[in-house]
Amino acid sequence: MSNISEILNQSSFSRSDLGQLLRCEGEDMLCLFEQGRRIKEIYTGNKVYFRGLIEFSNICVKDCFYCGIRRSNRSVQRYNLTDHEILEAARFADECKFGSIVLQSGENNSVAFADRITSLIRQIKEQSNGRLGITLSVGEQSEPVYRQWFEAGAHRYLLRIETTNQTLFHKIHPQNQLHDFNRRLDCLHALRAIGYQTGTGVMIGLPFQTMDDLAQDLLFFEQFGIDMVGMGPYLEHSKTPLYKFRNELLPIQKRFELALKMIATLRILMKDINIAAATALQAIDPMGREKGIKVGANIIMPNITPGLYRNDYLLYENKPCVDEEPAQCKGCLDARIAMADGEIGYGEWGDSLHFKARTTK
Ligand code: 5AD
Ligand code: FES
Repeated sequence: MSNISEILNQSSFSRSDLGQLLRCEGEDMLCLFEQGRRIKEIYTGNKVYFRGLIEFSNICVKDCFYCGIRRSNRSVQRYNLTDHEILEAARFADECKFGSIVLQSGENNSVAFADRITSLIRQIKEQSNGRLGITLSVGEQSEPVYRQWFEAGAHRYLLRIETTNQTLFHKIHPQNQLHDFNRRLDCLHALRAIGYQTGTGVMIGLPFQTMDDLAQDLLFFEQFGIDMVGMGPYLEHSKTPLYKFRNELLPIQKRFELALKMIATLRILMKDINIAAATALQAIDPMGREKGIKVGANIIMPNITPGLYRNDYLLYENKPCVDEEPAQCKGCLDARIAMADGEIGYGEWGDSLHFKARTTK
């Protein structure tokens, strides 16, 4: 038996075990993928849940060195969907029986923004008769604002920690109060204390990132007891400061493979959480998200942003589906999930089982 098979049969995993899983190649890697698939089937079944993703504004106060819509990128055409456009996108998700939506945007810390989100949450709940689950992904906010949105009806929140290596975190962000590792961590703790199903994630294959960093990221998810994870490969964007390190990166296929290994390893480590197959996977491989589903992910976030705006929400270049309209995505997704041996949980919220377990103890 290879060392990898031995590790796969353990019930707990050290940082060094996780590092070995992330480094494995060839046959060993296939064993890891198979184990990810098996654990997923046992613990969460073969259902895949959809979250209709509405990227409602690319206006952002942040200046992260990796992100295409960072504040300093003057070549981006900034947009802000109207309330009507957002409500129509939510109606479309409801009609498609997506179960949930994700409202995502660049970061904005104004009172007007907070109140607008509160009002949108209420309207979406009302127009869908409470059917649609609402996930927010609008960055770092104060505890009262998080609470205000939770009370209005949002019940999940995504805030990626990006990397848990603080030295690396500071290399990929400007050094100022707006980009502070501990503040981000405090936000995650606040979200959980309020009662949100809390999601985080990291980018995989960042310049200067090591396998050991990624192993530590996985342990962080476990120690925090996170409910949901969305993580995908880092993709360079020519209009960002990190672009100058493009020659230091893992080759793109290796980054893709590593992202799949992260998904499979996380599924083995945290058996009952929700794991999203990130869109960034599909930017590398047309079947990327389906491959993510096959090795352990159980969530897909179809983009339902009106087509007109999709080309302006380019966190990275070569983003897939930017020329599609939401209705075109629906038929495409049914076929794709069937190919990945999955079944779509239509009309279901598909809440994190991990969240249910920790809140009903
Ligand atoms: N490559 C991959 N992911 C990126 N994100 C931002 N920029 C990039 C990039 N260049 C991710 C970050 C952020 C999420 C919304 O998008 O992890 O949290
Ligand atoms: Fe920070 Fe876009 S500016 S992720």
